[in-house]
Amino acid sequence: MTIDTTLDTALAPDAYRPRKKVYVKSYGCQMNVYDAQRMTDVMAREGFDETQGPADADLIILNTCHIREKAAEKVYSELGRLRVLKEQAADAGRDVKIAVAGCVAQAESQEILRRAPSVDLVVGSQSYHRLPSLLAETQGGRSVVDTEFPVEDKFAALPAPTRAAMRKRGVSAFVTVQEGCDKFCTFCVVPYTRGAELSRPVAQILGEVERLADAGVREITLIGQNVNAYHGEGPDGGSWTLGRLMQRIAEVRGIARLRYMTSHPRDMHDELIEAHRDLPQLMPYLHLPVQSGSDRILAAMNRRHTQSHYLRLIDRLRNAQPKLALSSDFIVGFPGETDADFRDTMQLIETVTFAAAYSFKYSARPGTPAADMGDAVPEDVKEVRLAELQALLLDQQKAFYASCVGQTFDVLLEKPGRIDGRLIGRSPYLQSVNVVATPDQIGEIVTAEIVDVGPNSLFAKGSRAAPASASIVPESAPTMVET
Ligand code: SAH
Ligand code: SF4
Ligand code: F3S
Repeated sequence: MTIDTTLDTALAPDAYRPRKKVYVKSYGCQMNVYDAQRMTDVMAREGFDETQGPADADLIILNTCHIREKAAEKVYSELGRLRVLKEQAADAGRDVKIAVAGCVAQAESQEILRRAPSVDLVVGSQSYHRLPSLLAETQGGRSVVDTEFPVEDKFAALPAPTRAAMRKRGVSAFVTVQEGCDKFCTFCVVPYTRGAELSRPVAQILGEVERLADAGVREITLIGQNVNAYHGEGPDGGSWTLGRLMQRIAEVRGIARLRYMTSHPRDMHDELIEAHRDLPQLMPYLHLPVQSGSDRILAAMNRRHTQSHYLRLIDRLRNAQPKLALSSDFIVGFPGETDADFRDTMQLIETVTFAAAYSFKYSARPGTPAADMGDAVPEDVKEVRLAELQALLLDQQKAFYASCVGQTFDVLLEKPGRIDGRLIGRSPYLQSVNVVATPDQIGEIVTAEIVDVGPNSLFAKGSRAAPASASIVPESAPTMVET
């Protein structure tokens, strides 16, 4: 055992308690990525170090996603594998605990215990700050469930991450500013798994951002299921919008870049659009899910906007920030979607042109209104529509990448590249950029002339490994998610 002799650890009463290991596997959206980090913060205080795989872990947490059937089913196959691992560990005299957290935990706790009895703990997305006491309750082989939406503020109860944990987060970090959703789109489980909309107070967010900036973070992505509905309490006692919050965060020393996701078209208020015009730190890249281009389907989805409302909004945003590029989410095969409805979606894509997109086949989710709508679109029709839609979006993505060649971008240097003497950074549009630079430059923002594109990345002048490729067309499909 190595003993840490730094002063604060040496003075801690439990300094000689052997440390344990926690492994968190996250599925789903950026909210889960953030929650996973906070879970490791909670467990660090209990003497658990993070490990990168389940094999040597004393506690395994699956941080799950319920958004589509496939995402939810993945959890059960993973739990099957973990049961074997837990049994083998028990034979070797090791006690391994398995916890299921996140949105599947919230939605189907009893189903989890029924199908996977090796699970020790089911903890919902609003109660993971109580992990230590819940784990203590599992001693003696009891299965414990906590899926309450507690009254105490989870964020206030969470411990601040250690400096080591913060350094691991790199130069770009997520900060949850808003949770839950009150929109109730008819296809979506989020309002049920995450609960009602809640905004963190400005002061609490600023404290977190300042700590991150002190640890070397240069870019903050403010996240929330419906992040632009943010209306947290400001230091003046009033309610602050996301635009105003970003103005304030931009003043934090060291923070050079801001992003936010995921937004709803109904909540793009004037102050936020003005931030795109006035705030140089706000990157000109916006994820604004539209789901469909058909007014009939948008109404059935309860999206509360029309195609023309979305198009007008895009015009206003592009007027405010002419360099703006957009990404979006699409669902094909929502109940009752006709070929004409699908054509409206294709036409919207042609009109807007997207730099990137995520597209999905509609998946009926238990408990949501759309699941009872009938008039289901056959699977093979969904397949054909998805393929056509993705082909168009991929063409647009390739064209966007190709249009970057010859441009000069500010690139935030993030990590070493695969080749010595190169670093990987991010363009304003979240593309990976290969740059000639040294490791001590991580965290710097450099100006880079883009000379070439690869399958999923850009090459700055001098960074293309010999022999240089003259191709400016990606050789294979850039990332496009379909689950
Ligand atoms: N809060 C965000 C996104 C939430 S979920 C928003 O309002 O846009 C992320 C994406 O998953 C959604 O944008 C939608 O495209 C997709 N999605 C959600 N429920 C789905 C379902 N039942 N079937 C297929 N895709 C779904
Ligand atoms: Fe789901 Fe709609 Fe809320 Fe987004 S806005 S999380 S799609 S209910
Ligand atoms: Fe999935 Fe929950 Fe996020 S359902 S998409 S992990 S909010």
